[in-house]
Amino acid sequence: MATNKKLRSADWFGRSDKMGFVHRSWFRTQGYPDDYFVNRPVIGICNTWSELTPCNNHLRDLAEVVKRGVIEAGGFPLEFPVTSLGETVMRPTTMLFRNLASMDVEETIRANPIDGVVLLTGCDKTTPSTIMGACSVDLPTIVVPGGPMLNGRFRGECIGSGTFNWLIKEKQGVDNYTEQDIYEVETGVARSQGHCMTMGTASSMACMAEALGLTLPGAAAIPAVDARKKQLAQMSGRRIVDMVKEDLKLSRILTREAFENAIVINSAIGGSSNFIIHLLAIAGRIGVPLTLQDFDNIGSKVPLLLNLKPSGKYLMEDFYYAGGLPVIIKEMESWLHNNAITVNGKSISANSALATCYNTDVIAPLQQPLKKEAGMAVLKGNLAEQGAIIKPSAASPHLLKHRGRAVVFESIEDYHARIDDPSLDIDEHCVIVLKGVGPVGYPGMPEVGNVDLPMKLLQKGIKDMVRISDGRMSGTAGGTVVLHVSPESSIGGTLALVQNGDIIELDVAARKLHLEISAEELAARKANWQAPAPMATRGYVKFYIDHVQQAHLGADLDVLRGGSGAEVTRDLH
Ligand code: FES
Repeated sequence: MATNKKLRSADWFGRSDKMGFVHRSWFRTQGYPDDYFVNRPVIGICNTWSELTPCNNHLRDLAEVVKRGVIEAGGFPLEFPVTSLGETVMRPTTMLFRNLASMDVEETIRANPIDGVVLLTGCDKTTPSTIMGACSVDLPTIVVPGGPMLNGRFRGECIGSGTFNWLIKEKQGVDNYTEQDIYEVETGVARSQGHCMTMGTASSMACMAEALGLTLPGAAAIPAVDARKKQLAQMSGRRIVDMVKEDLKLSRILTREAFENAIVINSAIGGSSNFIIHLLAIAGRIGVPLTLQDFDNIGSKVPLLLNLKPSGKYLMEDFYYAGGLPVIIKEMESWLHNNAITVNGKSISANSALATCYNTDVIAPLQQPLKKEAGMAVLKGNLAEQGAIIKPSAASPHLLKHRGRAVVFESIEDYHARIDDPSLDIDEHCVIVLKGVGPVGYPGMPEVGNVDLPMKLLQKGIKDMVRISDGRMSGTAGGTVVLHVSPESSIGGTLALVQNGDIIELDVAARKLHLEISAEELAARKANWQAPAPMATRGYVKFYIDHVQQAHLGADLDVLRGGSGAEVTRDLH
């Protein structure tokens, strides 16, 4: 329903004073005719395109298609670049810059004559960072996910981007892959534009956006190079203009029910563990109460329906041909808040009412799920007082209840230096403990939690061991990996106090992570603990480590939680 609300952009372009002249005059350098400045919703196209972010390199073209839609619907499209985060190259980790990118998005939207926003996203952090920033302004906003790459191919087989990375050490050291073998994988796995095509973090984030109601139906799974991705982009351009007229802001879509729906869907698709940290941060921005425990309470009992790598067999292209996310949403109706509204103004269930599954090997029916319980488990205990997480569906069943001797690495450098030392005292029953990879300690909480096993154990045929850290894990990886231990070791969490030879108990069914030492011994170690030197003394990184919150809160900066709205009371003259 259209409202008569004055356009926000009219405060710039609709004025008859000196500043109205200034605002319009300089925009005329781009050749816009007079009517563009009169009652046309200005649509900011927030573009994470960058040649440094290969997964997003097609978004410049996609922006042009969005513009077609905006103009058709009577809007005025203005594309702007924001900080882009290339997962495979940025050091020390893109996660260090997620919050920085969100600040860029937030301040650019607020400072400019924008009525509605289209977020063009793709690679892992480009989705949460842009949504977080947009939430803190709260204008009508629609997400256009850039889409996954086509399936990777290697000698007649489908291979998944990301997932293969974690096998390279084993393939070279155990299966005797040659340089030529690895070269053929390298060239065959990334053979089109788009983001990783496993159910890694990028695909999980696209599905999260769709499950939250922030995309047009079916958007998440369309491959980047499929013509229907452009069609969706054009339709999104048309739709955002109407959303401005309807004043359909993010806060009207992102309700507690929408967040609960996203948790259910992430479990049903076997989504990334990174989903937790990003959804917590988004909830913090829009002001919806959400806790780490909610992910266990709402999601852990949800059945797995989607047969995609890393937990399954297929890839995103197959998911799209099987019917995409609307099929999952329809199957999961009994678990969802079906009236949750989405960007097209319709409910999530209305949008998926006609969804049809074309391949039940890719998307299983609810009555015959691939796994009965697929969600994340939240662990507590003296080793993780504020919580830690594990993805039981990606873990080895025989390790879900385990007691083992700790083999401790004080940093990632310590791990790399010693893990393949033949004299390292380690066997498959041990628990690998990695410290110093949390938000403050690394800094930025990298995806190193799924550290490779020692070569001598890989060569023995060992495929999995319990690994514990305060870091994250790539959504394309698997294993019995306890992640996001909070509080982290670098601020004095119990993880910092673990020593070689300590016994650690993991009991996923009981949600327990316990360091078996006496309270007196723990207190004595704590009293002797010394905080490491800060990882930075200046610049953004200093600001980050001074303000970043722990993983159980979403690792956002404390000063960024919440929003400041869209109003700017002071003019530039
Ligand atoms: Fe960009 Fe995987 S590296 S999505």
